[in-house]
Amino acid sequence: MEIREAIRTNGTVRDFTDEPVDDATIVSILDDARFAPSGGNRQPWRVAVVEDPTLRRELATLMQPVWDEYLETSMIGGTPFNVVDYVKPHDITPNKANALLEHIDTIPVVLAVAANLADVAMMDAELGRKPVTGGASIYPFCWNLMLSARAHGLGGVMTTFLSRVEPAAAPALGLPDHHALVTTIFLGHPVHQPTRLKRKPVESFATTNRFDGPAFG
Ligand SMILES: Cc1cc2nc3c(=O)[nH]c(=O)nc-3n(C[C@H](O)[C@H](O)[C@H](O)COP(=O)(O)O)c2cc1C
Repeated sequence: MEIREAIRTNGTVRDFTDEPVDDATIVSILDDARFAPSGGNRQPWRVAVVEDPTLRRELATLMQPVWDEYLETSMIGGTPFNVVDYVKPHDITPNKANALLEHIDTIPVVLAVAANLADVAMMDAELGRKPVTGGASIYPFCWNLMLSARAHGLGGVMTTFLSRVEPAAAPALGLPDHHALVTTIFLGHPVHQPTRLKRKPVESFATTNRFDGPAFG
């Protein structure tokens, strides 16, 4: 697939057919993803291919309350878990429907991705706010993985709800010391691959010289 088309049409897939994905395909996808850039080329990624249905169910049980909180916040108009003004809702209805969590046993591929924080340059760690730059050493790998999955005829979704409960998930996943759980990725053959994506136009985010400058272009 041509690279620009892949970038512009890689919509989220949360429904998968029963068709399995073989290990060779997963290896091939990881083999593409590893060409991602990272700070100092330290390649801090680790991937656990989670096959065990009992472990998957355990992870889903941990993710469910995070999903409940996410959706409750969205329903009252907030941006869930943002580090500027997030307030946890008072009443959270439990066990809200989520296809990924409900069907976690049968989703063809579940990947837990971790980053070795000893290998991540967190350039904004001492600014008195939550750091973000470390993600730049790991999420290009994750998005390469998603694009490669598409090239292999698969679709999926990158999620972060497990990261919120990392301490509880760590023993089950054998997460090494000083590693962060950065994403849980679900992949499979799409029931439907969305290709028409809703994204804001360039003029809504690009300005000249300064962020308060005139619209670029
Ligand atoms: C960092 C990140 C975290 C995400 N977390 C979740 C998640 O926890 N659960 C989920 O269903 N989708 C998750 N998504 C998928 C987003 O909802 C999706 O990319 C976005 O809504 C765009 O959807 P579209 O591809 O259908 O246009 C996440 C995506 C990213 C990039």
